[in-house]
Amino acid sequence: MTTNTIKHVLSPLARQTLQDSDLTRPVADRQPIRLLPWLQIIKVGGRLIDRGPEAILPLVDELRQLLPEHRLLILTGAGIRARHVYSVGLDLGLPVGSLAPLAASEAGQNGHILAAMLAADGVSYVEHPTVADQLAIHLSAARAVVGSAFPPYHHHEFPGSRIPTHRADTGAFLLADALGAAGLTIVEDVDGVYSDDPNGPEAGKARFLAEATAASLLESGAPLPVDRAFLEVMANASSIRQVQVVNGLVPGRITAALRGEHVGTLIRA
Ligand SMILES: Nc1ncnc2c1ncn2[C@@H]1O[C@H](COP(=O)(O)OP(=O)(O)OP(=O)(O)O)[C@@H](O)[C@H]1O
Ligand SMILES: [Mg+2]
Repeated sequence: MTTNTIKHVLSPLARQTLQDSDLTRPVADRQPIRLLPWLQIIKVGGRLIDRGPEAILPLVDELRQLLPEHRLLILTGAGIRARHVYSVGLDLGLPVGSLAPLAASEAGQNGHILAAMLAADGVSYVEHPTVADQLAIHLSAARAVVGSAFPPYHHHEFPGSRIPTHRADTGAFLLADALGAAGLTIVEDVDGVYSDDPNGPEAGKARFLAEATAASLLESGAPLPVDRAFLEVMANASSIRQVQVVNGLVPGRITAALRGEHVGTLIRA
């Protein structure tokens, strides 16, 4: 490579802009390896935790019973306290980059609650940098760890919408795909995804969807129990092609989902 003017960096990408996909494709167009192919990721909705002991205690029991069978990354969403902090912040005119870290801290609090309840089983809460760099060692010491499902966009949150676009479902999905996890299960307080909000004004018309594509949910324009950004990201994901949304208020549903049974809504890429 005598034409390379960049000192000692002989790489197929060294001489070209990374914007030209014709040039980058031969190098970049490969399936990434799966870092933790045995990992099951469970995203627990903040609304479930908002319900207190009635919902949390059976959920914790079920998670505890999963430990001998699976190695888990349990990620928590933000729930009602984040809705409150959004409304206070919006009234004050705070930009989205200020609102995102406030909501993320609520997701973290829910994670601390679950980790405390599972501490006697060796489960701890870990922060984002630990998930990024030391998840493998933590999961060889314990069967599960808990983290925040919120992605760390924080003050880098994309503008456009006043409510942060990248919330807990998006964060959980991005991690699952980046780690090449065995699966992602999203735990809600309803049986899965319906054609309309089953607790909303149009509840009478809401039909349960056993399966849906991410694209069809995005197109429908109906209210959804998952982030729209998560559905958008799913289109370009490399390892996770489907996610199951299940009801965490019904004991056994998470266990069945992790065993590959169809007990909620399967969302396909
Ligand atoms: N199409 C839909 N299908 C099912 N539930 C829906 C739909 N649209 C709205 N919902 C409502 O969404 C609620 C769950 O809200 P949401 O997804 O915000 O909670 P969460 O996942 O626990 O929160 P977080 O994302 O903060 O963890 C359900 O109780 C249901 O009433
Ligand atoms: Mg949800």
